[in-house]
Amino acid sequence: MSVVSQLVSNQKAIVLHGVHKPLVMEEVPIPKIDADEALVRVKAAAFNRRDWWIQQGKYAGLTFPIVLGSDGAGVVEQVGSTDHVGWVGREVVINPSLAWGYDEAFQGESFRILGLPDDGTFAEFVRVPVINLHEKPKHLSFEEAAALPLGGLTAYRALFSRAMLKPGDKVLVVGAGGGVATFALQWALLAGATVYVTSSSPTKVEQSMALGAAGGVLYTDGDWAQQLQEQAGGFDIIVDSALGDGMVHYPDLAKPGGRIVFFGGTAGNIPALNARKLFWKQLALLGTTMGSPTDFDAMLAFVNQHRVAPVIHSTYPLEEAEAALRHMDHSTQFGKIVLTVSQ
Ligand SMILES: NC(=O)c1ccc[n+]([C@@H]2O[C@H](COP(=O)([O-])OP(=O)(O)OC[C@H]3O[C@@H](n4cnc5c(N)ncnc54)[C@H](OP(=O)(O)O)[C@@H]3O)[C@@H](O)[C@H]2O)c1
Repeated sequence: MSVVSQLVSNQKAIVLHGVHKPLVMEEVPIPKIDADEALVRVKAAAFNRRDWWIQQGKYAGLTFPIVLGSDGAGVVEQVGSTDHVGWVGREVVINPSLAWGYDEAFQGESFRILGLPDDGTFAEFVRVPVINLHEKPKHLSFEEAAALPLGGLTAYRALFSRAMLKPGDKVLVVGAGGGVATFALQWALLAGATVYVTSSSPTKVEQSMALGAAGGVLYTDGDWAQQLQEQAGGFDIIVDSALGDGMVHYPDLAKPGGRIVFFGGTAGNIPALNARKLFWKQLALLGTTMGSPTDFDAMLAFVNQHRVAPVIHSTYPLEEAEAALRHMDHSTQFGKIVLTVSQ
């Protein structure tokens, strides 16, 4: 049985029609929901590098037209069954890891990320499984809550579930201006780590230090790894989403027993590494992706415990989604780019 409110049949959504096409606002049908799904009236959404990769045609499983957007927060408008009626009218943040599966160690075959192939949050309404609804942290605005899910989750799993961060660890966050990197900096600091960063921008190093980083260097300097070693000594954890040539320095930068955790390859692939240093220093190379429902619950509990808010670079109205995404062409942002969808 469907528990429905009276809605008109169409909504405004941001649609991508193909590779290198602009994001355009269009009238599209409001999605129909199944018994274990909810329809969320989106109040705010946020961008991830994933949205940019999809527009550039550099993402697996492309399908068009598509409503992008993995991050969102809003109010539950409808549920597909009376079993879930308690959700109607509640303020929620959406976990974009769909159908993770049953193993904490890795996602199952049905796993997918909201916003491709399923239509995402850059719309007035989004359809999501009820199990992906979570109460919005009360101390966060809808814009702040919308900035949290994908990046906050990825950084949380990388640091805690994979790299087993402990208070007192020394952590290097590579490419501090990145959306996930900024969360990694915030989470590690709140967990009692000492954090250093790299960036291409002196301003972003300063912004990181204003958030609590102990220091940082420009990875555009030829001797950045040496500068970092002089500033910080070695690292227990290196968090990276760039990879590429810079990674050759990690076996030297890591302390014995160090963990190198990565979830993206913005700057390339893994170069040839000194295997002797890897095994002699007992280093671990840890791949990670998004996070399980347990990781998402733990991330939200952490955010509520510390009453922390995501760093937001800028906020745009939904109809300016294309202009907002152009910020990512040159990675000028520090923190998240948010869309206000409805009041
Ligand atoms: N597997 C997953 O679950 C998962 C989840 C989220 C993201 N990702 C991937 O991880 C990457 C980052 O995602 P994001 O959303 O955080 O992206 P983002 O916000 O666009 O971050 C990009 C940042 O990467 C840094 N960077 C670029 N080239 C670099 C280099 N050569 N060396 C060091 N840093 C460099 C830059 O930092 P500065 O501006 O400070 O120079 C840039 O701002 C993307 O490739 C994304 O697809 C994967």
